[in-house]
Amino acid sequence: MRHLLHDLAARIRPDSRITILTGAGVSAASGVPTFRGPGGIWRTYKPESLATPAAFERDPQLVWEWYNWRREVLSQKQPNEAHRVIAAWSRRYPNFSLITQNVDGLHERAGTPNVVRFHGSIWEVRCWNRCPHSPVQWSDTTVPFPQIPPRCPHCDGLLRPGVVWFGEPINPAVLQRTQKSLNCDIFLTVGTSAVVYPAASLAHAAKACGAYTVEINIETTPSSNSLDLALAGPAEEMLPSIEALLA
Ligand code: OAD
Repeated sequence: MRHLLHDLAARIRPDSRITILTGAGVSAASGVPTFRGPGGIWRTYKPESLATPAAFERDPQLVWEWYNWRREVLSQKQPNEAHRVIAAWSRRYPNFSLITQNVDGLHERAGTPNVVRFHGSIWEVRCWNRCPHSPVQWSDTTVPFPQIPPRCPHCDGLLRPGVVWFGEPINPAVLQRTQKSLNCDIFLTVGTSAVVYPAASLAHAAKACGAYTVEINIETTPSSNSLDLALAGPAEEMLPSIEALLA
């Protein structure tokens, strides 16, 4: 393992174009449950009852109770060493991009600027009616909401969480920023099961653009064999080990 980490560290130069894609595994050490695997959210809850536009139409109260509860849980969590190393790299390397599938906001709290939030943010809301008086989406960090479901301050209609639900497209501006960052020297995919598309295709797209592609995960994923390097281990240990070799 040590020589693999050395090889990777040797590839990272001050002017390297580095892009990182993260998934739920990067927040696992902060105590945030992942979606799949033991203790995963989708083992207990059904995505189709909570994370689709149809579920929201059917029962906005239930969907908001679930998001409100997740916001309460997340508000107690702190960034871990993996988030901190990524934040340090975002400050150190001028050609650095972070794309995250996580909606938890922990990368931002660790100090990474300009995060490309591929699946949106649980800390943002938007008007379900898309009323003309409200912005498309805005930050609201109220925990807990005094009223469930929360209401649009502009039209008094329903608010919805600012996340991407199953069956919804990725925001075109986010896709555009993502596309740009695929053109990189090193693409690191960290803590994602690589089964949810289109996020799961990004490492392959970066490889097709010529990037050296690396996966960090505690398990093998459908991508492991097709990337240049698969590092088996927890993000909160592997990233600090690479960082120590860079120093
Ligand atoms: P998953 O729960 O599918 O996968 C988490 C991955 O993290 C698994 O492959 C684990 O092996 C790995 N993992 C767990 N702990 C780790 C650690 N300490 N270090 C490194 N890896 C670790 O989560 P995502 O891949 O993020 O989408 O899921 C993708 C999307 O599916 C989510 O964004 C969400 C979900 O449904 C939406 O809500 C649209």
